[in-house]
Amino acid sequence: MLDRATVEAPSLDINRTGPKKPDLLTVEDAKALDVKTMADLFKDHINPGQYHFMKLLGFHKVKVETAEGMYYTDQNGRKILDFFGGFGSLAQGHNHPRVIAARQRFQDENRHEIAIAFMSQYASALAKNLAACSPGDLDMVFLGSTGSEAMEAAVKVAERASGRKNCKIVHAENSFHGKSKGVLSITDSPLYQGEFKLTGNTYKVPFADLGALKRVIENDSDIGVVVLETVQGGGGIVTAPTTYWQGVRALCDKHNVLWVADEVQCGYGRTGKFYAFEHHGVVPDVTALAKSLGAGKAPVGAMIAKREVYMKAYGTPKTAMIHAQATFGGIGEACVTAIEGLNVLYDEDLIGNSAETGAYLKKRLEDIQAKYPKIIKEVRGQGLMIGLEFQDFSQTLPFALRPMVALLDDKLKGSLSGFIGAALLRDYGILVAFTEYNRNVIRLEPPLICDESHVDTFCDALDDLLGKGIVSIVKNFVQSQVS
Ligand SMILES: Cc1ncc(COP(=O)(O)O)c(C=O)c1O
Repeated sequence: MLDRATVEAPSLDINRTGPKKPDLLTVEDAKALDVKTMADLFKDHINPGQYHFMKLLGFHKVKVETAEGMYYTDQNGRKILDFFGGFGSLAQGHNHPRVIAARQRFQDENRHEIAIAFMSQYASALAKNLAACSPGDLDMVFLGSTGSEAMEAAVKVAERASGRKNCKIVHAENSFHGKSKGVLSITDSPLYQGEFKLTGNTYKVPFADLGALKRVIENDSDIGVVVLETVQGGGGIVTAPTTYWQGVRALCDKHNVLWVADEVQCGYGRTGKFYAFEHHGVVPDVTALAKSLGAGKAPVGAMIAKREVYMKAYGTPKTAMIHAQATFGGIGEACVTAIEGLNVLYDEDLIGNSAETGAYLKKRLEDIQAKYPKIIKEVRGQGLMIGLEFQDFSQTLPFALRPMVALLDDKLKGSLSGFIGAALLRDYGILVAFTEYNRNVIRLEPPLICDESHVDTFCDALDDLLGKGIVSIVKNFVQSQVS
C-alpha cells in the first residue's frame, strides 16, 4: 500500500515552455475563503440571479465549515439542523463514518476509477445490489451521475422498447424530471422550458387522474410510454392513491404501454419503502434513482429496467452501444460509496426509521395545524417526505402590511413559506426546503437518520414561530431585508 505522506511531487522540467500557471486558488485557499469572498465569487462566476434569492432568504450569511449527521456547522460554530436534506440526497446523513471509511479504503488501495475500458468490479456489484433491492424483474441497470441522466436513460430505454416508430410520451401536470434537454420536455414548467426547442412528442395529463390518462392512451396508439413521479416532489409533495397506481399498471398492460416511475426523489427509502410504488403493490417497467444513492458523498444516478424491456432496446451487439454508460458512469469511488450507502441503509434500518419517524413528524405537524388552521392549510406525504402547505395569506394580511409585502420579490409575494423558512434559519438554526411550483409549500426531507428528538426540535421551533402570528413574521422578514 502506498504511504501518501512519503509521495513526492515529480521534479519540474523548467526548460519547458508550456503556458504560465494562471492565478489559481489552491484547495487551502478555497477552504479559507471568507463568506463575503465566497459570495462574490459565486456572483461573479456561478449565478448572480440565484444569489439574489439566497440573500432574500438569509442563506448568503452562511458558510458551511463542516457537516455531520443531521447538522451543518457554519463559520461561527453555529449548528444548523438539516430538515432540507438536499431534497432527499442525504439518507445516511452528512458524512456517514462507514461511507467515509469505504471511500478512504478505496483511495488507499489505489483502485481504478474510469470504467469504460476495463469493467469495474464495483460497478458490477452496485448493479447487482440495485437489482436485489428492486422487486420483480427490474434487473438491468444503467449507471450515471445525476437524476436527469438516469431519467434520460429511462425514457430512452422505454421509448425503444415500446416498439412504436413515432413513440409519444405522456407525463403529468406539475411534473419534474430534470432540466437536461430531453427530460425538460416532460418537466411541466414554463419557466424551465423557456424558449427551448423541445422534443414535441409529449402529452400532458393531470396527475392522479386515471380517466384523463385512459382517454389519451385510448385515443392515440402512438403513445408508448407513461412517465410519472410516484410522489411529486417539485409539485409540492403530491401523492396518488393505490387505486390510481393499480389503474396505471392495468391500463399500460392493456395497451402495451411502458410505465416509467421516477423515484429520483421519493425512492431509496424516503417514503418508508425502498421504492414509493411498493406501497401500492405494483411494479413499473422502468424506474430511476439518484440523490441519496450517492450516500451524500458522490454523484450517482441509476436507471433500472425490467430485463425484457432492456433486451428489447439494447439487447444485441448491434444495439448495445446505442445508450451505453457515459464517461463517468460506474466510476469507481462513486460505486463504492453507493454500495456502502445501500448496506448502511439496510444495516441501520433507515427505511423502517423513515416510516416510523415520518409518522411521528406527520402527527406532530397535524397537531400544529389544528392549533393554527389559519396559517397551515395541509400536511401531506409519507415517511420522511412531508409537505407543509400554508394558506395563501395575501388576502387576509392586514391592510397596513400590504404595501410592505408589495416591495418584495415576486417569488415571495403572497407566500408564507419564504418568510417562515427564513425565520427558521435565522432565529432557530433550522434549514427547510422550498418548492419549485407551489410557493406555499415547505418540503421536509431530513436525512433518514432523523429521530424523534430532531422532530421535536423542529416542531417546537415551528410552533413557537407560528405562535408569534403572521404579522410579526412578515414584519421581521421585511425588517431583515432593509437592515
Ligand atoms: C423526481 C425528480 N426527477 C429527476 C430529478 C433530476 O435530478 P438531478 O437534479 O440529479 O438531475 C429530480 C431532481 O430534483 C427529481 O426530483
